[in-house]
Amino acid sequence: MPKRSKRISIEHDESFIEEIEREESILTPAETVVLRPAGFPLRTPGEDKPLRITTDNPLLFQAYATDQWRGQRVKRGDFLFDQETFPNFAFEVIDILPEGACITSTTRVVLESPQKSTSSVKTQVTFDDIIGNESAKQKCRIIQKYLASPERFGDWAPRNILFYGPPGTGKTMTALALGNESKVPISLSKATELIGTFVGEGAKRVHDLYAEATNSSRSIIFIDELDAIGLDRKYQSIRGDVSEVVNALLAEMDGVKPNIGTVTVGATNAPVFLDSAIRSRFEEEIEFKLPTIDERIKMLHHYAGKLPIPVKADLDRFASELDGASGRDIKEKFLKGALHAAMLRDAQVIDNALLNESLDKMKKQSNHMVPSQLFT
Ligand SMILES: Nc1ncnc2c1ncn2[C@@H]1O[C@H](COP(=O)(O)OP(=O)(O)OP(=O)(O)O)[C@@H](O)[C@H]1O
Ligand SMILES: [Mg+2]
Repeated sequence: MPKRSKRISIEHDESFIEEIEREESILTPAETVVLRPAGFPLRTPGEDKPLRITTDNPLLFQAYATDQWRGQRVKRGDFLFDQETFPNFAFEVIDILPEGACITSTTRVVLESPQKSTSSVKTQVTFDDIIGNESAKQKCRIIQKYLASPERFGDWAPRNILFYGPPGTGKTMTALALGNESKVPISLSKATELIGTFVGEGAKRVHDLYAEATNSSRSIIFIDELDAIGLDRKYQSIRGDVSEVVNALLAEMDGVKPNIGTVTVGATNAPVFLDSAIRSRFEEEIEFKLPTIDERIKMLHHYAGKLPIPVKADLDRFASELDGASGRDIKEKFLKGALHAAMLRDAQVIDNALLNESLDKMKKQSNHMVPSQLFT
């Protein structure tokens, strides 16, 4: 990228403006440039306040940007330095139309709001809401103790735990309960969302995820759909920059930086598809199973008691009919289906007939019968 040596200030001299206009007329003018704040290339020791763009007015930033970078030819991945700040704040060009065009006074310069690949959540879910999955709850109690006093554990801290099992068996729910009961922030992210579009972007997202988590002294990082990036590396050439995400994740899971008070929980339906290096980083794999008959009975009574229309039916019989169904199937398909049918008909109770109907509908869809051995 040609660098302009002269510093453009508000008081441009006329010959300099003419020179820029001459350059602009022979180069292809850029229609739109999309920038992302990239940070400072260097920091003054002791100065750690990040620069933040506080204006919501796109025209204000547009005027500021075209004033500074007029005449520059840019392509994706280039950095533009804000020369009005010291040290110079950098913006990364994440898109330009057309590619390699030149910023002119009429170029639309858009600032991309930082993309969130994670979300911090708060819920009311507790361990008591989880039916079954006793070994997962027990492990979570150890993590809870660790998060309450990490110094007691020293080198023996629980760090990386893998939840695996069929869909709808309570993996996400258990991670949420852990965050809630431990009173620590939990960052939820899907592995697929960590994969970036540009080289280096995926690795940066992983490092940012951990940097943000370690900002709070205690936190849980929950990475869902881990098999999407953990896919055995021999398949990774077809997945673009997945290997950089894997490597970044391996580095963070190894605790290159001492992430005291940070616990990573990964979740997958299919641990067999995990990259073996990633899989070996998990000190414990906790299996989530489809509920047993006793657990289905408990679940049915638990969720039936929460429905806005009373249930008067033989729930225990339905529990045996629901063999192979997950907690999600029982709540979201079976009971919700019956409730909606009852509401539609203004029924005062949910009875055997309504539940039978819902069960039949579910069986017709029949994809709830998922043999658990497929996932181990
Ligand atoms: N063991 C359980 N006890 C009580 N409720 C459960 C249980 N398992 C699932 N549920 C219900 O099903 C919902 C979905 O479960 P959850 O999202 O935790 O499943 P998951 O294992 O993360 O599934 P996926 O693999 O598809 O992400 C929960 O919010 C809860 O309402
Ligand atoms: Mg889940």
